[in-house]
This record gives sequence, structure tokens and C-alpha cells, in this order.
Amino acid sequence: MKVLGILGSHKCNGITAKMLDAVLTAVPAPHETELLFLEDYDIKPDTGEPNLVLDQIEQKLIASDVWVLAAPTYIGALSGVMKNFLDCLRQRMGRFDHTGAIHPTKFKDKHYLSITTCYTGTVENVLTGATDDTFKTIDKAMSLAGLIKIHELVLTNSYGQTKLSQAKKEECARWGAKIANKQKRDDSTVKRYIELFFMVAIMAFITMGIQRLINPTLVGAQFWWSVGSFVVIFYVLLAFILHFMTVMKHKRK
Ligand SMILES: Cc1cc2nc3c(=O)[nH]c(=O)nc-3n(C[C@H](O)[C@H](O)[C@H](O)COP(=O)(O)O)c2cc1C
Repeated sequence: MKVLGILGSHKCNGITAKMLDAVLTAVPAPHETELLFLEDYDIKPDTGEPNLVLDQIEQKLIASDVWVLAAPTYIGALSGVMKNFLDCLRQRMGRFDHTGAIHPTKFKDKHYLSITTCYTGTVENVLTGATDDTFKTIDKAMSLAGLIKIHELVLTNSYGQTKLSQAKKEECARWGAKIANKQKRDDSTVKRYIELFFMVAIMAFITMGIQRLINPTLVGAQFWWSVGSFVVIFYVLLAFILHFMTVMKHKRK
């Protein structure tokens, strides 16, 4: 397996680079790693002319099983360096249909992990979502190309930081060790729907148990019949809405 680190920072030795390095260093042998510092490349979009730089990068992307995209948050969003790379790559992300929608092909089912850093403090980031747009833009591009997300890592309070804390190093190392074990296909969707079923069942049981205290006529078989039918109807409707929001909407029909 090969892991490709893609660094979209102005600096090749900044704190974002250190986060990425900590992840890549922890990828165990015999898995291979490679680093792509985007500032080293003059990345331009396809315009019908030969585009050797993008060809070279595309080959690296195809040859890798996991991409680790690391970019600082600049002006509340993804760094321009990384955004330009994703914009230029769009043309090659898959097959275009007659409406201009992309259908993933060569990158489909690869995995990715995203990293960002920002000056914003941890609490402020949780409350205001300072890094949300950064991750959302990466996620959007990766979902167009058909990649599966592994995880996201964030380093806040980066002002003046030249070294990673021990805790951050360990967090990065944990994910570096984990990404090497990624299977080709992601089977977590079924797992999530099963979890959702049990969440709905438990919540319905608790809710209707409370209702039974208020309405003592809801007893015996009537109670269990009400709980069972509620769980099934509610779960089917919720699963349908979630499927529509996450799968159908992404097809952009
Ligand atoms: C052009 C620019 C814009 C920035 N905008 C933000 C911002 O909106 N919010 C924030 O928290 N940090 C912002 N920062 C701080 C960067 O996120 C910080 O420099 C980054 O963590 C450093 O990563 P590096 O060492 O890899 O360059 C900005 C930095 C630059 C250079």
C-alpha cells in the first residue's frame, strides 16, 4: 500500500508540514509513503494543451491508496494552494455526463485523511467552526472523486508553534498507523445504519415507557406493538431521508 501526503501550505517546514510528517512517519513498513509539496509544482487547469505537471501529479495520485491532504486554514477557508490543486484536478476526477456531473472512476474507493491548522483557539474553533469550511471543501472535492474519508485532524492555536506537542504527535502517529490498515472498500455504511436502528429502538422504548407512565392504559401487548411499529416506521422514514440527503443529493440530478 502507498500513502501520498499532499501539502498545500506556503511553507514546506511549517506546522502543517509537521502534522503531515508525523502521520507519514508513523505509517509502518512495508507500506510506502511519498510527499507532494504543491508549491513545488506550477499547477494549471487543463485547457486542451498538454499538461505535463498535472499528468505527473495524476500518476502519483493513481499510484497511491491513501491520500493525506494537509493545508492550513487561510482567511477562514482552505488555503489557496490546495484549493487551486483541487480545482485543477476536477477535470480529471471522473467521467462527466451530459449535465456536467462527475461520476468517479480512477480514484474511486481510495481513502483520504485531511489535516488543517489555524491560529484560532480550540474552544473558539469548536464554537465558531473556524476550520469547518476548510474540511468541507476537501470533503466535497474528495466525494466528487469517489474517495472515502478516514478521519480529519486539526491543530488549533498554531500561532508561534514551531513544534508539535507530544499529544499531537501521538494523535498523528495513531492515525498514521491506522491508515495503513484501510480496506479497499468501506463497509461502515451498513454498520452505521444498524447503529441507527438500535438508537431509534432505544429512544422509542424510553419515550414510550415515559408515555406509559402518563397513560397507564398502554400496557402489555398493546405497548410492545406500539413500540415495535413506531420503531419500524420511524426508522424507515429516517433512513430514507438520510439516504436522500447523503447519496441522492451527491449525484446532483
Ligand atoms: C494568508 C493567511 C491567512 C490566514 N487566515 C487565518 C484564519 O482565517 N484563521 C486562522 O485561525 N488562522 C489563519 N491564518 C493562520 C494560519 O492558519 C497559520 O499560519 C497556519 O496554522 C500555519 O501553518 P504553516 O506553518 O503550515 O504555514 C492565516 C495565515 C495566513 C498566512
